[in-house]
Amino acid sequence: MTLAAVRDDEVHVRVPAKINLALCIGGRRADGYHELATIFQAVSLYDDVSASPCPDGLITCQVIGAESHKIGPKDDNLAYRAARLLKSEYGISEGVHLTIDKRIPVAGGMAGGSADAAGALLACARYWELRLSLDDLMTLGARLGADVPFPLMGGCAIGLGRGETLTPTLSRGIYHWVLAFAKRELPTPDVFRRFDLLTTDTRPEAPQVPRDLMMALTTGDITRVGHLLVNNLTEAACALAPELRATLRTGREAGCLGAIISGSGPTVAFLADGDRAATDLAVTLSSLGIAREIRLATGPVPGASILKD
Ligand code: C5P
Repeated sequence: MTLAAVRDDEVHVRVPAKINLALCIGGRRADGYHELATIFQAVSLYDDVSASPCPDGLITCQVIGAESHKIGPKDDNLAYRAARLLKSEYGISEGVHLTIDKRIPVAGGMAGGSADAAGALLACARYWELRLSLDDLMTLGARLGADVPFPLMGGCAIGLGRGETLTPTLSRGIYHWVLAFAKRELPTPDVFRRFDLLTTDTRPEAPQVPRDLMMALTTGDITRVGHLLVNNLTEAACALAPELRATLRTGREAGCLGAIISGSGPTVAFLADGDRAATDLAVTLSSLGIAREIRLATGPVPGASILKD
């Protein structure tokens, strides 16, 4: 894919969150990251990232929306760093103002910060009229974080290495998710650190995604996928946020095909048996008050895309 060289005064990009259907973790590598094998699915929960003019060659970044109050100073913001990387890499003198409309939970295990970086790469590439392919953007994204390439690609993919080496994978059917946003945040490095303490002897050298889960995914056996969802970070996340055990149990008792902590948590994702079942489960979980917010989403959905005005 080559981005058309069309000059817009403002470029709007919509970028999806992800759920890991499998998250299998190996040992810690020399670079401090963990070797992992994961299956990503992009879901219909989005942040919007816009690029617009900014004077004096500056990059500025404003975060709005439901989750905006939880975002730190701009230099911590991965979207800001994405724009800075693109600007220096291609010798751009012009500035850009980024606006992020944030709905993906912050530090929620759904790669919201990475989605914003992915959105910023696409929006700025278009805004600065750079003719970059999807592969170019994904390569730049991998330099910013392991989870940045996937929101550009979207759909369903196997991730190896730190999670950034992606292979798109066939997935049949529509997945209906009920997402329970937790009342607290859970920083990813803390969860990996706890994982290390809990699993000294049990980490595989080369983790692999389960074959039976891959088979269920490609044949569209969503019920079986629900049974086979796996996340090696579950114990670590629950050790840091013990209330997640009750959240998982409550959803399972209320009726779902499977329940999983999303990534490093603390968002919990429940796979429902269709649209109607998802709505029923969402109503039940809302009434029980087990989460800060309950949201519905479907997957897989396409990766970051430019919105037409
Ligand atoms: O990729 P990103 O920088 O967002 O990851 C955040 C942190 O999560 C890393 O600094 C590391 O502590 C942990 N991590 C890891 N192994 C991975 C991915 C993330 O240890 N494969």
